[in-house]
Amino acid sequence: MRPDVDSPMLFPPDRSAVEVAPGASLIRGWLELYQQAWIADRFREWAAGPVPVRSATVRGHPMSVRTVCLGWHWQPYRYSRTATDVNGARVLPFPDWLVRVGRRALAETGHPAEEADAYTPDTALVNYYDEHARMGMHQDKDEVSRAPVVSLSIGDSCTFRLGNTENRNRPYTDLTLESGDLLVFGGPSRLAFHGVTAVHPGTAPQGCGLDAGRINLTLRETGLADR
Ligand code: SIN
Ligand code: MN
Repeated sequence: MRPDVDSPMLFPPDRSAVEVAPGASLIRGWLELYQQAWIADRFREWAAGPVPVRSATVRGHPMSVRTVCLGWHWQPYRYSRTATDVNGARVLPFPDWLVRVGRRALAETGHPAEEADAYTPDTALVNYYDEHARMGMHQDKDEVSRAPVVSLSIGDSCTFRLGNTENRNRPYTDLTLESGDLLVFGGPSRLAFHGVTAVHPGTAPQGCGLDAGRINLTLRETGLADR
């Protein structure tokens, strides 16, 4: 059967990377729906433990976002192998398939092949946002490595604020991150302040594996050695 002119089969959507700030690139719809749904299923498994998904406590207050980690457990503001702020259990291992995802993400956002091939993320912070959750402006700076951060979004779209490296204020760019989008921030944007100012309920596409809320995975190289 000949595909209709509006079918994505005939003229596939443009999935090329767009530079949204120096060193930061976005590819819309990078994950297919079945990949999103598969990752959403993994999230439900990871969330069950051995370290259950939880709201980290920042300056005495629980974050509205709930987080489960892979590879290294993050708590404000350090990484460890065991979740001393939750139940003392060892964090789940970092899966090989996520290393491959990270390498492909760098390659497809224009990083040189040698850099993409060498990229070996060893931690992922997997965040769940309900419709009220937000994330304040912050820098990802608890890693020793300054290799890029790879961000994947699934479920409801959000407003993601990508700021400058000096402070939490302007200049910043507000991006709508949708289900399946890939954002890679490295180089001059690696230490940019960033946050999530809103989640947009009812925007998760059918088939993404999440009926409500948003999952975000950030893959990072910690640069830490086992102790
Ligand atoms: C983060 O900054 O760690 C998460 C960002 C996001 O949810 O898009
Ligand atoms: Mn962050």
